[in-house]
Amino acid sequence: MAKQMNVLEFQKKCDRGEKLTVVTAYDYSMALAVDGAGVDAILVGDSLNMTMLGRPNTLSVTMEEMLHHARAVAAGTQNAMVIGDMPFLSYQLGPEQALENAGAFLAEAGVNAVKLEWCPQASEVTRFLVENGIPVMGHVGFTPQQIHRFGGYHRQGKDPSSAARLLREAKALEKAGAFAVVLELIPSDIAKKITQSLNIPTIGIGAGPHCDGQVQVLHDMLGLLPDFHPQHAKAYLQLHESIKNAVRQYVSEVRSGNFPSKDN
Ligand code: KIV
Repeated sequence: MAKQMNVLEFQKKCDRGEKLTVVTAYDYSMALAVDGAGVDAILVGDSLNMTMLGRPNTLSVTMEEMLHHARAVAAGTQNAMVIGDMPFLSYQLGPEQALENAGAFLAEAGVNAVKLEWCPQASEVTRFLVENGIPVMGHVGFTPQQIHRFGGYHRQGKDPSSAARLLREAKALEKAGAFAVVLELIPSDIAKKITQSLNIPTIGIGAGPHCDGQVQVLHDMLGLLPDFHPQHAKAYLQLHESIKNAVRQYVSEVRSGNFPSKDN
């Protein structure tokens, strides 16, 4: 059995110039497939509130729901690092609250690290978690938990002052001990500048090709949701249609008496 990815190996891979691959997964069967495909890390993203639970944004997912999905992903993963995404209001109240919730991700769900989005308390919280043995991945740029402040899914860092702010935030997270930073929906040249300014890996989504690695939402890659095709994603499959076709065939075979056959 291969050794499970950890933060030191993650950094070493980046230092060797190897691109890092991260993808979301939210349950056991998907974790088995994604881990088997050889990704470096699996993110149990709070995007599950939309992809798995059908809610309009990431804000309402609870710690309990995140732990439920994280446990299932950890059970299906042998090689990749598993990262639990800290949900809205699970860390913004300060380091102690963050430690309790991040600790539950590691102790109860069996993940290896947590991710948190930039907020005014992010550096202080990151430092405290890292000092307590919990690896932290930061997240700057378009941070979905602030969707109401941003007024929708809008690219961040488009003007010089907001680009400078993103660089400051990423550097603050690195200084606080984060092992990597997600850069979401920011211009490619700004992502390049941030990547060149940090020693820790940057993991991009909608941030161009210059990041040290990429992260994608599995449902976008697999075409699992009809009518949702973000520009930054590539659909490698059209699973929604494939599933519908398979189930249609089953329905028709049951109705016609062709299923079950002798073999079934
Ligand atoms: O929740 C999530 O899936 C994420 C990724 C988009 C980075 O945070």
